[in-house]
Order: sequence, then structure tokens, then C-alpha cells
Amino acid sequence: MTDLPRIPLAGVIGHPIAHSKSPALHGFWLKRLGIKGHYIPLDIAPGDLREALHMLPRLGFVGVNVTIPYKEEVLKLADVVTDRAALIGAANTLIFRKNGKIYADNSDGSGFIANLRQHVPTWNPAAGPAAVLGAGGASRAVIAALIEVGVPEIRVGNRTRLRADALRSDFGAKVQVHEWVQAGNMIEGCAMLVNTTSLGMVGKPDLRVPLDALRRGMLVTDLVYAPLKTQLLIEAEAAGCTVVDGLGMLLHQAAPGFERWFGQRPEVDDATRNALLSL
Ligand code: ATR
Repeated sequence: MTDLPRIPLAGVIGHPIAHSKSPALHGFWLKRLGIKGHYIPLDIAPGDLREALHMLPRLGFVGVNVTIPYKEEVLKLADVVTDRAALIGAANTLIFRKNGKIYADNSDGSGFIANLRQHVPTWNPAAGPAAVLGAGGASRAVIAALIEVGVPEIRVGNRTRLRADALRSDFGAKVQVHEWVQAGNMIEGCAMLVNTTSLGMVGKPDLRVPLDALRRGMLVTDLVYAPLKTQLLIEAEAAGCTVVDGLGMLLHQAAPGFERWFGQRPEVDDATRNALLSL
């Protein structure tokens, strides 16, 4: 009897995992492309990560996305870590190779850039400095990507100064650290502003950074996508800035993993956005 091909399985590992939009997103693409496969939320208890990564390939998994709190820890358990994941210090995409090796990558930065390019095709990264609010994991991915595409100077402000200082020592002199209380001032003269903090998200405190330095023509984007139109984006739009919401980054960071696991590049379009917005 010949073996039937195994139905590929992928998923997202984290703890907790119930809030993740990834299963709905990958499920939408699988259905749309008529691929026989499944994408499953996997709640892995702390302490079980190593064993879970050992077992998942044996159960038919071809890879997983990684979310909080395991994005850093998986780097230690992977056999191959891409340069960008190592630089960021976190992975969001794992591929389980046929030889048993685990390959770890980070597509947050490329997803961030792809979202900007999709919504603002005329965007010129070299146009001027970028102001980045926050110095957490998401900020590291954004800053690595901004440097890669040629942004000449990146001004970072973070509540915890030490984390911003670490960014400068990891990414070099293009990164300039500003005091959190001065974050409003650092926006002056910038071509773009990015919020990578959780401020402004549903259930979190408001972003209180003064925004009077925003000018017509600046590009402003928020990684927060719940709400979709954050107070930052509302104020930026009123000031004549070009604004891009954060939902597209979520969609674009998911596409490379999907392609590696299931063999087809999914399209990130309005139908995909709407499928997530209607959840
Ligand atoms: P992520 O992986 O999403 O970046 P993170 O690493 O926990 O998550 O980073 C969250 C970011 O939001 C950090 O820049 C954090 O500032 P600290 O480094 O000082 O913690 C920022 N942040 C969260 N709550 C904040 C608050 N109430 N005020 C200012 N910054 C806040």
C-alpha cells in the first residue's frame, strides 16, 4: 500500500494563545488557496517548550509561528538562526526541516516594511530621520528593518532608558537615544514616526507623547491595531500626515511562514484585511 501524503500542519505557539488572530488569518488563506492543511493555536505551558518543539515535527507539523512569551527563548532551541533573527534577538517563525533541524527566522521587520510599501508606494526611506517610540521586541525588529532599507537616522525614546541604550549598542550610531519625557521633541524634523509601544491599545494607557511637531507629509504608523485607528493616527491625520495602521504588518509578517510551510505565497489584500476585521 502506498503512503498517502501527510496533510501539513502549522500553528502558533504561545501562552496564552486564545487572543491570537493568526489561526483565522492562515485559515482564510488555506481555504482561499484550496490547500489541504491546518493551522492551529497551541497553548504551550511554561517549561514544556523544549519538549513541544521536539514532538511537533513528529506529529506532522511543518513549522509554527511564535508569540509571547517564547519569541526569545526559541532562539536557544533552534538549530539554525537567521542573521536578522539573531540581531533582533527574537524569532516569530520556525520551520521544521525534514532532517529534523529547526530553522528560526523573524519576519516582523520585513512585514513592517511591506505594509508601508503597500500603503505608501512613494515612501522614500532616505527622506529623513525616523522617530521610534518604544524599545521592546517589536521596536528592535522595526529598527533593524529601517536601517536595512536606508533610513539615515533613528531617534528612539523609551520609558526605560536602558532598553533604548541597548538598541544603540546593538544597532550602532544611526540610533540616537532620547529621554522618554522628550519624545515629543524628538519628532521635530523627522520624516516618519512609529509607535511600537503598547500605549493606545484597547485596555492599555493612552499614548501621552505631545504631537505638535507632526507636520504635513510625515509618515506616521502605529503597530497597535486594536483599535485600528488609534488616537495617534487620528491626530496625525488631522495634522496632514500620511497614516498607516498596524493591521497590515500582522498580515505581511504572516505571509513568509505560510509560503514556506504550505508552498504558496498568499496575497495580502482587502479581502484578507476584511476577513480579520470581521472577527
Ligand atoms: P513588544 O514585543 O510588543 O515590543 P515589549 O518588549 O514588552 O513588547 O515592549 C513593550 C514596549 O511598550 C516597551 O517599549 C515598553 O516600555 P518599557 O521598555 O519601558 O517597558 C512600552 N510600554 C509599555 N507600557 C508602557 C507605559 N505605560 N508607558 C510607557 N511605555 C510603555
